[in-house]
Amino acid sequence: MKIEFRNVSKTFYGEDSELETLNNINIQIKEGEFVSIIGPSGCGKSTLLHLMTEIVDSFEGDILIEGISLKQSDKLVSYMHQKDLLMPWRTIKDNVTLPLILSGKKKKDAYKIVEPYYKMFGLDGFEEVYPNELSGGMRQRAALLRTFMVESDIMLFDEPFAAIDAINRHKLQQFLLERCQGFNRTIMFITHDIEEAIYLSDRIIVLSQRPATVIQDVKIELERPREKHMKLSVDFLKIKEMLIEALE
Ligand SMILES: Nc1ncnc2c1ncn2[C@@H]1O[C@H](COP(=O)(O)OP(=O)(O)O)[C@@H](O)[C@H]1O
Ligand SMILES: [Mg+2]
Repeated sequence: MKIEFRNVSKTFYGEDSELETLNNINIQIKEGEFVSIIGPSGCGKSTLLHLMTEIVDSFEGDILIEGISLKQSDKLVSYMHQKDLLMPWRTIKDNVTLPLILSGKKKKDAYKIVEPYYKMFGLDGFEEVYPNELSGGMRQRAALLRTFMVESDIMLFDEPFAAIDAINRHKLQQFLLERCQGFNRTIMFITHDIEEAIYLSDRIIVLSQRPATVIQDVKIELERPREKHMKLSVDFLKIKEMLIEALE
């Protein structure tokens, strides 16, 4: 297994309160699989990824990456946060190349590597501007591009397209599919958009209200490559209906 959550539970403790957030989560993800996580707002989806990225530590159970417990693993995962978290004092170019610089590349080389992607991400002409000069959607695309610059075969996304308009969202979904298929990237993708989850995923995991438990684990058998018209197919709509019911 590429990623495995084993009996993972998480409770947040405050001064005189406790918040049970995850309750005995078991998830197995194979290499190259695209798995979406859906569930009610506030149920603990982001927390799942925060455990993996060690933004939040101390939890019960174990998370294994390639069979090695997270705490022993030195595996790098690339993670795109719900908010874009671009650095306001750096230009777009210096934001998106940051992972390359951190991995030891020279600035000049990092700029060259990222060059072909600006157009694809709708950012060409904006390389030298600062994040606060861009729209929310453009900032999100810049954050997405930065995520792709992390050299890792495990990618975690937390509602990356939520703030993007429908047309651009479709473009980015398509882009994500193209970049992931055949590259053996293993992906955990949080979304509240059921259609997006079906369209992108090999499997969808449905979480319950907090404290989250896994209530469904649905294999999406739609053929690949995925194409826009599939969103209107009977099979697609059946899955959608089933998931909507599961979330009620
Ligand atoms: N670091 C934290 N400390 C305390 N409570 C937290 C922390 N992170 C998340 N929570 C709480 O845990 C619950 C689940 O949050 P989250 O994982 O962000 O939900 P989701 O992403 O599904 O909307 C929420 O009630 C949230 O307030
Ligand atoms: Mg969240």
